[in-house]
Amino acid sequence: MSTLRLLTAGESHGPQLTAILEGCPSKLALTAAEIDRDLARRQLGFGRGARMTIENDHAEIVAGVRQGRTTGAPIGLVIGNRDAVNWSKVMSVDVAEEAPAPVTVPRPGHADLGGALTFEHDDLRDVIERASARETATRVACGAVARRLLAEIGCRIWSHVVRIGDVEAAPDGADRRAEVVDDDPVRCLDAAASARMQAAIGAARDRGDTLGGVFEVVVEGFPAGVGSYVAADRRLGAKLAGAMLSIPAVKGFELGAGFAAAALSGSLVHDEIFFEEARGYYRATNRAGGVEGGISTGEPIVVRAAMKPIATLLHPLRSVEMRTHARVEAHVERSDVCAVPAAAVVGEAVIALALADAALDRFGGASVGEFRDAVQVFTDHVRRR
Ligand SMILES: Cc1cc2nc3c(=O)[nH]c(=O)nc-3n(C[C@H](O)[C@H](O)[C@H](O)COP(=O)(O)O)c2cc1C
Repeated sequence: MSTLRLLTAGESHGPQLTAILEGCPSKLALTAAEIDRDLARRQLGFGRGARMTIENDHAEIVAGVRQGRTTGAPIGLVIGNRDAVNWSKVMSVDVAEEAPAPVTVPRPGHADLGGALTFEHDDLRDVIERASARETATRVACGAVARRLLAEIGCRIWSHVVRIGDVEAAPDGADRRAEVVDDDPVRCLDAAASARMQAAIGAARDRGDTLGGVFEVVVEGFPAGVGSYVAADRRLGAKLAGAMLSIPAVKGFELGAGFAAAALSGSLVHDEIFFEEARGYYRATNRAGGVEGGISTGEPIVVRAAMKPIATLLHPLRSVEMRTHARVEAHVERSDVCAVPAAAVVGEAVIALALADAALDRFGGASVGEFRDAVQVFTDHVRRR
């Protein structure tokens, strides 16, 4: 991100998460309730662990907003960790009288080993606390701000789960019910597949195992002409991929037809170009996923992410005790069985942040009005060409 800058701090069991979002235009109507709505959506989903019943996330806006509107100053957000009261000794800033027992067995699939070696930690707690996906709450909170900004230019962002483990949802048709997707326990639009996904999660839980899956993020109404082919770091697809792969446990990314396109002939993949006086240029298909040559086409932006199965296992995999190098079983933390529905909400947030940044980069605007006008001028210009 360049025009919109985000920095977060905070440990999973520390007193709070803190975020500073800089570069948001002034005069954007914003309430903590709107941010809390997305924070609550991140906590949903069949397959979550006990933590989600303890935390009921609330964002406190501590800077950059006055009388319900952004001022153009950095926006400061704070999300308290309710669970912190149970961890005050372990997480104490000052040296505790009685040193907490260190975690010395790294969990495969986590940052534990790499973090300990990189930062020379003897207690893996120093890694676990920051590497935890708890950090994604701050990105969801700031993503809600980006979503509000994009709504000002007619943009809507939503997501749905298309695979959990080996259960795949049927391809959805024209009726993509964004409004109802949160009502489903795994945020899947195919009711029959949803039931099988929930059964698969239950079975994995009974086995002491975990599951991953695939989710799709859809962005409707994003203007054409954002991004560029002239330099690698201006390509919109690269920004979307970087955003998605910044989510812990996301290991795969697809734009539009993605990997499926590799198996098809070109005549079945590329989107033919049409023109109508009232509409301007448009496509009848959208296999490109709304980006061609690194530039948005004006069609919906459609991206998918593959999330690996949760790495913390009730029946742990083998590991090594770091003081003795003895072969042991991995450390077990309280954990989710499947977090794909929640990761999809995080996906919406990081895509909102990436697109808001790219749009601000392209159109500028110190106030929301200026931003909106610049988008409108360009959109009208494109329609007349
Ligand atoms: C919303 C969300 C919730 C997650 N919950 C857990 C969890 O409860 N237990 C766990 O082991 N990993 C969980 N993860 C994944 C880990 O944070 C991640 O696998 C780990 O930090 C290692 O990073 P890496 O998979 O990107 O290498 C979650 C990820 C997300 C996006």
